[in-house]
Amino acid sequence: MEFKNLIVDIQKPIAIVTVNRPKVLNALNLETVGELGAAFTMLEANPDVRAIIMTGSGEKAFVAGADITEFRGKTSPEMLPFAKKGHDVARIMESMGKPIIAAINGYALGGGCEMSMACDMRFAADTAKFGQPEILLGLIPGMGGTQRLARLVGLGIARELVYGGEQITAQRAYEIGLVNHVFPAAQLMEETKKFALKLAAKPSHALKMAKLAMNYGFDLSLDNALMVETQCFAQCWSHPDLEEGVAAFIEKRKANFHQD
Ligand code: COA
Repeated sequence: MEFKNLIVDIQKPIAIVTVNRPKVLNALNLETVGELGAAFTMLEANPDVRAIIMTGSGEKAFVAGADITEFRGKTSPEMLPFAKKGHDVARIMESMGKPIIAAINGYALGGGCEMSMACDMRFAADTAKFGQPEILLGLIPGMGGTQRLARLVGLGIARELVYGGEQITAQRAYEIGLVNHVFPAAQLMEETKKFALKLAAKPSHALKMAKLAMNYGFDLSLDNALMVETQCFAQCWSHPDLEEGVAAFIEKRKANFHQD
């Protein structure tokens, strides 16, 4: 599948999705948001791909937000589909079985920070900057930032970032739990690939069950969340990886997963 604003590079068993609009710091226009949805849907269906990295083109930006040039002269009803589309793509990312790591190589502002939060984990270059600067435009986050940021870092710090609109460093993002790891910029992709390959080597059905249990359970009451976990746990017995993993343990050998 060809994309106008993305590069999708499949390096079996991982894939790298690069937002490729460097002249505008990889800002997300509506077309790019749609392409992201199509790319993740395609990668979910590709059995050669077991883990995905999302990044931005060039050295300056991961994604510097929604494309502000598309905001001019619009009306409220015209902008509803934009937010809806962003939400739909984030939901595709969260509900698919394969893990997605954001390799944040520069500015992750507005929709960039929001898309990174729809990924399973965030690895950042030490030069990266994060923020929800929408307030500075007379706007609020519209791709999930008012909700996912609070779920990741807590409501108090999320309010500070959304109300204040200020950028924070990668180090600060690490301190508040927004990113998992910070690497020197030159090592970011290598380190992220290393980790993606580790995930790709895991039994993929169990990894999918773990992702679904955590993503679907997180917003539920504990009782309902534990019910989701129960179902996903029991589902592991529907795949040969479990039999293989248990046999390998008992026979004191390395498990040979991925017979699917
Ligand atoms: N939408 C559209 N274009 C954008 C953009 C965005 N979100 N972010 C950057 N660009 C464009 C700039 O307009 C500029 O285009 P030009 O070369 O035609 O003038 C180009 O990308 C480079 O950006 P520039 O502002 O010159 O780089 P900088 O290093 O001085 O500043 C930022 C970088 C990220 C701090 C600054 O571009 C910025 O604040 N961007 C908007 C961030 C934002 O508010 N995001 C949320 C949107 S809801």
